[in-house]
Amino acid sequence: MDAEKMVKEMTLEEKAALTVGADFWHFEDNERLSLPKILVTDGPHGIRKQKIIDSPMGSGESVEATCFTPACLSASSWDPSLLEVEGDAIAKEAISEGVSIVLGPGTNIKRSPLCGRNFEYFSEDPYLAGCMASSWIKGVQKNGVGTSLKHFAANSQEKKRLISNSVVDERALREIYLAAFEKAVRESRPWTIMCSYNMINGTYASDNKWLLTEVLRKEWGFDGLVVTDWGAMNDRIEGIKAGLDIEMPGPNRSNVDAVIKAVKEKRLSIEDLDRVVLRIVKTILKALNCKKGEPYDKNAHHEIVRMIASSSFILLKNELLLPLSKDKSYAVLGEFAKKPRIQGNGSSQINSNYVSSPLEELENAGYDVEYAAGYCLDGAHNEEELCSDAVALAGKKDAVIIFAGLTLESESEGFDRASLDMPLGHNRLIEEVAKVNDNVVVVLYGGSPFLMPWLDKVKSVLLAYLPGDAAGEATVDVLSGRVNPSGKLAETFPLSVEDTPCYGNFATEERNVLYKESILVGYRYYDYMQKPVLFPFGYGLSYTTFSYDEIKVSFNQEKKSGEISVLVRNTGGYDGAEVVELYVEKVDSRIFRPLRELKGFKKVFLKRGEAKWVSIPIDERTFSYYSVPLGKFDIEDGEYRLYAASSSRDLRLSVTLCVDGNKNPEAMPWRPGDDFALLFKHSKLPLSPESGKITLNSSLSEVLADEKASKYFKPIFDAFITPFIGKTDGLSRMQLAMAADMPLRAAAVMTGILTQDELRKKLEQLD
Ligand code: BGC
Repeated sequence: MDAEKMVKEMTLEEKAALTVGADFWHFEDNERLSLPKILVTDGPHGIRKQKIIDSPMGSGESVEATCFTPACLSASSWDPSLLEVEGDAIAKEAISEGVSIVLGPGTNIKRSPLCGRNFEYFSEDPYLAGCMASSWIKGVQKNGVGTSLKHFAANSQEKKRLISNSVVDERALREIYLAAFEKAVRESRPWTIMCSYNMINGTYASDNKWLLTEVLRKEWGFDGLVVTDWGAMNDRIEGIKAGLDIEMPGPNRSNVDAVIKAVKEKRLSIEDLDRVVLRIVKTILKALNCKKGEPYDKNAHHEIVRMIASSSFILLKNELLLPLSKDKSYAVLGEFAKKPRIQGNGSSQINSNYVSSPLEELENAGYDVEYAAGYCLDGAHNEEELCSDAVALAGKKDAVIIFAGLTLESESEGFDRASLDMPLGHNRLIEEVAKVNDNVVVVLYGGSPFLMPWLDKVKSVLLAYLPGDAAGEATVDVLSGRVNPSGKLAETFPLSVEDTPCYGNFATEERNVLYKESILVGYRYYDYMQKPVLFPFGYGLSYTTFSYDEIKVSFNQEKKSGEISVLVRNTGGYDGAEVVELYVEKVDSRIFRPLRELKGFKKVFLKRGEAKWVSIPIDERTFSYYSVPLGKFDIEDGEYRLYAASSSRDLRLSVTLCVDGNKNPEAMPWRPGDDFALLFKHSKLPLSPESGKITLNSSLSEVLADEKASKYFKPIFDAFITPFIGKTDGLSRMQLAMAADMPLRAAAVMTGILTQDELRKKLEQLD
């Protein structure tokens, strides 16, 4: 039976039942019509399927799976084809585990380097993020497995993520925060999109008709299903009207009843409900086309991780110490050499098949190495002693390789980082070792930017971010020169937190998060404000060198399409790959815009001495900006300069092009430093009111602070918070941070302790 027919056959009760999940990880079924329950799991860099699928609150150990390269690293490959390979392999694991939809990729924009969840996201730039997300989706979906592009939208901090209100002007939304989603939706048609927890300009994403219907479906042509983030459903009826299809997790009987009642009382039209149900049925039927249960090749997947990771590492500094020579003796320092950081904390955390260690791989490769811990990951040893033992060893060797970076506890879903610093013990180790040995290589693991106060004192720095299961082999592949590094930064490394674009407006105690920097995010900000940075966006070295010899452009004015071509030559001593980046600047712009923006890129492999023409397509979006008054992307008439660049601050060649367009463009009269409200010319600032009353949307910490309410809702605290109090491991910290910001309505559903009706009644009694 086809989907339309099925929906026609359904009773109102059956329709309403489908709009809420069956349990934590399944969509609801309908036995009478032979619609089965389908299983969805996280994502995004592997399969996190709970071993006991109906364990409370979706917690507990997950099945073993490959931990692929998290987005912070895979984006640094600047090679979308690798993301397709990763997606394809993840789909194979999904098939083997009977998973129909993988909850990823996450393509939120890195607004601040402090966002705790940045490791799960691709970039500060929407073009790059959109390309990567799109390829990953294609890779998964070509196997008949669905994806869930998340978290839609403007969810760029963890602090209060369940209740915060992202106040963003429309131009910034369109050009920055929605653009990566738009690209992925248009190019790869994900089966599903996951709405974020937060409000966008005063309306929760789950109830946001402008976002879910006007923009997503009508403008971008999305015809898939929208699912809530887990616990993000604000108002089930408003959600249906807005185009939100399925609430997760379930069960939530009171919302099913609320839907039935709303239709009977004519507060919700049956047409609106049917639209939602049709999309749910279509998605379930699509999932049935895929045969489940086939095993996958674990070793082959491990090799895929190795290949993607080693193609993505970024060589930040190299004074001829890398690749390593077999003729030297090395001190290998830092616990990460034995236990590398491979992924971040939270819902994306994979129970790895097998993690390799760099120390073991260095030994296997025949290097003369001796190890000392240097610092301690679990707090069980005296770090100062470990450091002096390591320094003593370093003094006896020709060179030193220090493994350092951010620890698992310092970055996580659920809370943001407190500073840009690496742990004290890691910094101290590098500083002290550099005093006794001039030949120091630092290998860094971690999911987001940090400061490097010791940078001038070491010879080489390799940024390995979070490399997934094959951390050991991939790291040694690059250190040894078997693989020539070719990754480039997908985000800026700033010099201080005070320099960052949203400093002062990020992760404050306020529910209203004001995006005061508007479109000046990442390098757009640092370039416009002429701020020096530690390492610029798009930066990364190689063991070889490249020259950019010639540039040409061809452009069809009417179709607004064409390409730039750049002749690139490998001028150094190794075969290697270069990423050619295209930045576009409007000459004498009459409107406010960033100095330059990334509009294309291409990675090219060149043998020693080889030269190739590299082509990068250009189209309307290469030149356009979002005009709020016109309600569309518009091209300003005039001259544009197109740069072929090796990083955002290493512009090699340029060519100018005249583009026909709007001669009288009108843009917001706003410049950095001007009143934020000017960005909302046509409306009041869309702030979310804070009543001080306990409501469905009060967070658990607000409830706890209210003596009467905290007694009323004690069972919720007992289930959600008490088990984690006093624990210091990353997962417990995340759970506590999340719980503190969780609105009562979500906590009630997640714990299954109160239905929303019961919760409402209790709230009335409180008044
Ligand atoms: C996360 C999502 C995840 C979901 C299910 C939420 O807390 O924000 O990214 O897919 O949980 O685990």
